[in-house]
Amino acid sequence: MRLPSARTVPISPTEADVLVQRFSVPYEYPVYFTEGVLAPENPTLARALCLQEPNRRHRFAVVLDDGVARAWPSLPTAARAYADHAGDCMQLLSDPLVVPGGETAKNDPQALGRVHAFLDRLGIDRHSFVVVIGGGAVQDMAGYAAATAHRGVRVVRVPTTVLSQADSGVGVKNGVNAFGKKNTLGTFSPPHAVLCDRLFLSTLAPRDLRAGMAEGVKVALVKDPAFFRWICDNKNDLAALERNVVARLVRRSAELHLAHIATSGDPFEQGSARPLDFGHWAAHKLEVMTNHALRHGEAVAIGMALDTLYSKEIGLLGGVACNQIVSLLRSLGYPLWHDAIAKTDASGRPLVLAGLAEFREHLGGELTITLLADIGAGREVHDIDMPTMLRSIDLLLRAGT
Ligand SMILES: NC(=O)c1ccc[n+]([C@@H]2O[C@H](COP(=O)([O-])OP(=O)(O)OC[C@H]3O[C@@H](n4cnc5c(N)ncnc54)[C@H](O)[C@@H]3O)[C@@H](O)[C@H]2O)c1
Ligand SMILES: [Zn+2]
Repeated sequence: MRLPSARTVPISPTEADVLVQRFSVPYEYPVYFTEGVLAPENPTLARALCLQEPNRRHRFAVVLDDGVARAWPSLPTAARAYADHAGDCMQLLSDPLVVPGGETAKNDPQALGRVHAFLDRLGIDRHSFVVVIGGGAVQDMAGYAAATAHRGVRVVRVPTTVLSQADSGVGVKNGVNAFGKKNTLGTFSPPHAVLCDRLFLSTLAPRDLRAGMAEGVKVALVKDPAFFRWICDNKNDLAALERNVVARLVRRSAELHLAHIATSGDPFEQGSARPLDFGHWAAHKLEVMTNHALRHGEAVAIGMALDTLYSKEIGLLGGVACNQIVSLLRSLGYPLWHDAIAKTDASGRPLVLAGLAEFREHLGGELTITLLADIGAGREVHDIDMPTMLRSIDLLLRAGT
């Protein structure tokens, strides 16, 4: 009797036997913009937990950024009261696990281990939820912990900073730092839902409010000239951290980041390009070189200024646009220089340039750096001309001091 086989053509002795597996999984998650997520009359969190199975009672636990815990001391009580109020659809399993906020969350492996242990202790399974309330660093770390617990438990993100509401918290990545490099360990894991509560921004330090806006400028520069003009028109209010104007920047930036992930054709970054990482090769290196004295957004502002100057020096970007960008960054209050940029190795080469190789390694494939062909028009290049980059660093020194 002949056995059924997927192959009809006989296999030659030199040919491999291959079965091709193919499937696709659609992703969809809502990003809500709201105020007072834990006010009992606000249905957003309950709605987010019940999206897929409205008739079940959903178990959840909260991981909380310690900066948020300090600024909002009544939050654990509010979470308990919210869960009691919506008790038919949700069950809060414990008091929040408070973890260190800021880059410590991503640098300290014990913080990651504590989240894993917390999820284990509560018996969080793949149908339970982890609600992460905090800035981009805590979102990255707790998101990574959740993605690796039981091979991925559901995460509802409540990002509490400008940066995490405008960029990282609405996207699909998480990660922690390791081996002296940023985001070395991490996964692509779309959240179940994202709740951006603008009230949280009212307690954020001015420095963090300003730093986070850099990601809005970045996405305008590579994607949306009209948004860049809007930022220029509102630069005084933004520099003064005027709440409503900052909230509009956050909202538009989030929209553009979401649109890029949905429509770029490469949501999980399998290719070499990463247009939303304009200015980031230098930024990531500077963050590590300064031992995170520079905030991510501050480092991105410097990295963008450098790559803008370089874009002009290689003749890709016009001088008027270049001046406009550098002047906007200055008006928004970003320092455009840090002495770490001048640090050199034994051969006199700036150490920051090692960021190019690390960036390539992180992406895989060939070196791909996004530069600017115009405002709103990112352009990928695969080579960096070192003498021109060194000249751009000199220009940055003059522009930034
Ligand atoms: N995953 C991604 O796609 C992605 C994208 C961009 C940036 N990031 C990462 O995001 C991180 C930076 O995140 P960030 O800018 O949100 O800063 P952050 O998470 O480092 O937080 C900054 C400080 O603000 C505190 N804080 C947070 N919310 C607060 C609030 N509402 N009130 C008072 N204090 C509050 C924190 O405790 C911390 O001390 C970096 O690690 C960066 O690499 C990730
Ligand atoms: Zn960034």
